Amino acid sequence: MNTVKKPIRKAVFPVAGLGTRFLPATKAVPKEMLTVVDRPVLQHVVDEARAAGIEHFIFVTGRNKGVIEDHFDKQFELESTLAARGKKKEIEALARDLPQAGQTSFTRQQSPLGLGHAVWCARELVGNEPFALLLPDMLHHGQTSCLADMIEAYSKTGGNLIAVAPVPEDQTHQYGIVGVKDVKAKVSEITNMVEKPQPGTAPSNLHITGRYVLQPEVFALLEKQERGAGGEIQLTDSMIAMMNDDKQPFHAVRFDGDIYDCGSKLGFLTANVALALEREDLADDFRRDLKRLIGTNA
Ligand code: G1P
Repeated sequence: MNTVKKPIRKAVFPVAGLGTRFLPATKAVPKEMLTVVDRPVLQHVVDEARAAGIEHFIFVTGRNKGVIEDHFDKQFELESTLAARGKKKEIEALARDLPQAGQTSFTRQQSPLGLGHAVWCARELVGNEPFALLLPDMLHHGQTSCLADMIEAYSKTGGNLIAVAPVPEDQTHQYGIVGVKDVKAKVSEITNMVEKPQPGTAPSNLHITGRYVLQPEVFALLEKQERGAGGEIQLTDSMIAMMNDDKQPFHAVRFDGDIYDCGSKLGFLTANVALALEREDLADDFRRDLKRLIGTNA
């Protein structure tokens, strides 16, 4: 069991998915690069990780994802053009978003075998230290960074943490679901987990929202993990083994903000509306246009 709380310095972002739900938009553009207002979905999630103090960003990519690497690099031609035009603010904004040289790593998943396999592909880059895992489809939007809340909880609990939030009971079969000791507590010990439970069999209505703090022992379990729900190598199955066989502590951290599943059209569109309505430079005009639209089409 892990009692020493090593700091969480690295975060893994699995970004190899094909994005078939967004065709034809995702034929040449990775789904993670679709924008919520004017930032790629992935940039929002990297922002969350940086706000939590993450220093190294590990992207598990796949074929046709090259622009993700370009996005997290300096764009020399663009910057010199902006400089020639005196666009200081834009240059500063680009610089603020950019991780420092050496703070990003990229590896490829090669075959789409599931989330567990994608995470396992990051094993050499993570090494023997605990790490954060953020699923970029799930945009977490609240007062504080969800991952920052988790790292704060980790400073007390150590071990492994999973962010959770309630979902309607008729949706539990779409997610990983956890049972906890105290359903009302912000941080509670996890008693059991199941990936995509059959309707009516979920241990609670708390779903795994796509933010994790994991100990590196998970990699050895993922290496021999058999396929689970949907015929895929499931991270949840290795976490169950870690909890039951390795006796590693697992805590759930409730996220109280809004979560938008940007892997679904509805979630993606809602995220765009919600975040645009919070933007000082857009909100008033956008609200006026939305009212006009809804007034006509409702
Ligand atoms: C994955 C996880 C699941 C989690 C979900 C959140 O499932 O396996 O436990 O609830 O992400 O989006 P997927 O969406 O890859 O089917």
